[in-house]
Amino acid sequence: MKGIKIFSPATVANLACGFDVIGLALEIPGDEIFLYKSNNPGIRINKIIHGTSFSLPSDPKKNVVFVALQSFLKKYQQQKFDKERRIGFEIELIKNIHPGSGIGSSAASAAGVVFGANILLGKPFNTMQLIRFAMEGERLASGTAHADNVAPAIMGGVTLVRSYKPLDITKLHTPNELWVSIIHPQIEIKTSDAREILKQKILMTDAIRQWGNIGALVAGLYQEDYELISRSLEDVIVEPIRAMLIPAFYELKIRCKEIGALGGGISGSGPSVFMLSKGNHTAKAVTKIMNCVYSSLKVDYKTYTSPINKQGVKWSEIF
Ligand code: HSE
Repeated sequence: MKGIKIFSPATVANLACGFDVIGLALEIPGDEIFLYKSNNPGIRINKIIHGTSFSLPSDPKKNVVFVALQSFLKKYQQQKFDKERRIGFEIELIKNIHPGSGIGSSAASAAGVVFGANILLGKPFNTMQLIRFAMEGERLASGTAHADNVAPAIMGGVTLVRSYKPLDITKLHTPNELWVSIIHPQIEIKTSDAREILKQKILMTDAIRQWGNIGALVAGLYQEDYELISRSLEDVIVEPIRAMLIPAFYELKIRCKEIGALGGGISGSGPSVFMLSKGNHTAKAVTKIMNCVYSSLKVDYKTYTSPINKQGVKWSEIF
């Protein structure tokens, strides 16, 4: 096999209470990647197709796909999986996820290339190793190698990072009727900036409330207890600081919950806002309310309604 087409999904990190540890994968949107194996050593990004409203680093070495794949190749060659060692990759990237959107743009691209390279080379690496390579892309993009976007992108469903050192990630149960509504205000918030403003120390009382919520959210997912999920979607640590970055954040939350959303919050580091709902019908009504709230603001936006993507990144064609 010489070439592969990959679809790598957008993701929602944090899920309110689970800063840096919980994330889920969406069915839409997602980045598309054409990845070709080559006998010419090195990594070449031949084409990037994206919307006009954003730019990507002109130096390919500053692109997350380059960094993630480089870390993959380094390990591959160290382990001498490839006897010839003359191995390279050509990449064409179709960026459907806006960088700085808060729905895992860098994670989707990084996860996609390492997943594709692994298939092309006969699966030398396991899931946890792929996550590690993709995390190098996150380190470049945000200054921190957080895994709460790349893990759900690669594993699908809802994932939980139990520990970073050592890396220990588990896939949680996804209730069938759980849907996600997203609004992406077209303003850019860099994850590095949104992390910079956070406090490095938190109150014990806040910590207690937060870990209670995380535990209950996990229980709610397994028990398919939508009321418990709803009560657990509360963030007393990060959201109060980041909310000011997002126009009409609290109005969005209130109006979406009034129409039946279980709850939600800032998607990753924002500016996207997510809401969870029980069922497609309610999720669509919630997305409609998001549109309504933003139609009166002077901010462009996009909305999505998606079920949870249980599979995660996938490949669909070979050449
Ligand atoms: N957990 C990360 C953050 C996700 O909130 O900074 C970034 O998408």
